[in-house]
Amino acid sequence: MQQRIIVILLTTMGGILALIIGVVAFSALTDDQPQQPQQAAPSATEQQEDPVGMGGLPSPSMQPDQIRPIDYDPILNATYWLEDFPYQTESFLKNRNTEPKKDYLELYPFLNTIFAGSRFENAYYSPLPHENAVDNVKTTPRLTDEHPASCFSCKTPDYVVMEARDPVGTWSRGFHEVADQMTNTITCYDCHRNEPGRGIGGEGLDGGFTGSIRSHFSVWYEDTRGSTASCAQCHNEYYFDQQTWQVSLAPGPTDPEIIFAYYNALGLVDHVNPNTGTEQVKVQHPEYQHFAGSIHQQEGMTCVDCHMVRSTSDGQGGFLTNHTITSPSQSREIRDTACAPCHGGGDEAILQLISDTQASSRSRTLALGERLADFQIAFAAAQDADQLSESRIEVLRGLEREAVWFFDWVFSENGNGVHNYEGNHRWMQRAEEVLDQAEQLLSE
Ligand code: HEC
Ligand code: HEC
Ligand code: HEC
Ligand code: HEC
Repeated sequence: MQQRIIVILLTTMGGILALIIGVVAFSALTDDQPQQPQQAAPSATEQQEDPVGMGGLPSPSMQPDQIRPIDYDPILNATYWLEDFPYQTESFLKNRNTEPKKDYLELYPFLNTIFAGSRFENAYYSPLPHENAVDNVKTTPRLTDEHPASCFSCKTPDYVVMEARDPVGTWSRGFHEVADQMTNTITCYDCHRNEPGRGIGGEGLDGGFTGSIRSHFSVWYEDTRGSTASCAQCHNEYYFDQQTWQVSLAPGPTDPEIIFAYYNALGLVDHVNPNTGTEQVKVQHPEYQHFAGSIHQQEGMTCVDCHMVRSTSDGQGGFLTNHTITSPSQSREIRDTACAPCHGGGDEAILQLISDTQASSRSRTLALGERLADFQIAFAAAQDADQLSESRIEVLRGLEREAVWFFDWVFSENGNGVHNYEGNHRWMQRAEEVLDQAEQLLSE
């Protein structure tokens, strides 16, 4: 046991050392106080452009030699821990369901217009539980042979280990080339390495690791609390480096204005809308970015407070963490233990607060989506009819790209307003204002 602890300590120290090296170029960021990254003096051209107000473009990702050294042991998967941690493991294995997903393209037909030309045209579903993740990505019609191995980054720790052994080699491989080697789905190793237990990064007591094992997340967010980091390493907005296909996070670190400016400066294009000719970027699932700066994050809560039940006693004055991921709207226990201390008025009132918050955000998002699609149809028609000058088309495309970005920043996030109510409305207002301008210019 003692040996084990020493190994943990060494691994941790190694990790911290690697992080310090990594962070020389990218300064640390706290949860709620983004600072500017420190870096070498920018060149004259960079200073001139300075597109994101950061004195040039900082490198957003870890360099290959900075990839955090991780445990090279074989990944011990869930069943290995059944005997040591039956409560956590049994509850963990319930993260699977066979209920059909919601088909967003059918539910919200305007998405077919907004995301025309993107892979999301082929399939766009609501998320399934963690145990489904690897099977799901292997069978989605969204992926083709051209897609990189990096798509596995947030579905399995097998990718993380492969990357730590050979970063550049791994990034440059194709999705189907590595698919057979990706056998574990999201498992204990993703949040605990091979040392499940109370987390050093979290609130825990007796060793173990709870946090992010993914190097791309560690660059910007290393001060995030361990239990939030264990979710946020995957539930975030990222992009693929256009040369290497490395999973990368923009140096926002959480502000969609800065991330968008950064993508523009990189010239990032995920797809071209075939009807309007606009070069678009697709937002992924910025749960972490929404949560950062939200009222609940400021109140000191983590993702885990709302998504994992922690009310079973460990018999020693503490509690055990139920590993079936759920949500406050599904779990009375979470509402009683995690919400009621601040939100009075009883359980009905808490449920009502959640559904009112979601309804007000959702109705505005859907109205915005309809309006955006109508604009794209009108813009495409005006181009077909040769009614617009080249310069006007360029300006309109820029506005369309921006409006889609802010719409998508809210639409593709899975909390429907719950993770950051104030932010959601502010970002939608941003999209509406850009759309006002675009509609105005198109009608002139
Ligand atoms: C290794 C990456 C990864 C980690 C770590 C991770 N998730 Fe997920 N999560 C996913 C993926 C991928 C999906 C969607 C799976 C699909 O649809 O195929 C998902 C789906 C979900 C869902 C929707 C389905 C459900 O079970 O209700 C919730 C909620 C969720 N995750 C919350 C969390 C929380 C909370 C944490 C941290 C305790 C976390 N996730 C950690 C990748 C991850
Ligand atoms: C204050 C409580 C709270 C916090 C903190 C919180 N969530 Fe949520 N989350 C919710 C609620 C409520 C929902 C909506 C669930 C529903 O509609 O059933 C939700 C929904 C989700 C979903 C979509 C679930 C689905 O089935 O579609 C994901 C994924 C998710 N949260 C991940 C996260 C992650 C990751 C974090 C931390 C970065 C986080 N949440 C922090 C309350 C919270
Ligand atoms: C998505 C992330 C995630 C995965 C996957 C995960 N855990 Fe955890 N685990 C956590 C978090 C978060 C905590 C609470 C940490 C804290 O309190 O600091 C935790 C706590 C624990 C604890 C400490 C005691 C307790 O119940 O709070 C044990 C033991 C544990 N997990 C075992 C496992 C085992 C075994 C697996 C796989 C079967 C697993 N975990 C998978 C995130 C995860
Ligand atoms: C530490 C205190 C605290 C806890 C715990 C807490 N909240 Fe809140 N919550 C707040 C505050 C403060 C606000 C801001 C509005 C207000 O003053 O009521 C808020 C607002 C909300 C809102 C309205 C939208 C918004 O962001 O303003 C929702 C929905 C919500 N909380 C859900 C939850 C749920 C679900 C839980 C339990 C999982 C929870 N809260 C736990 C403090 C808390």
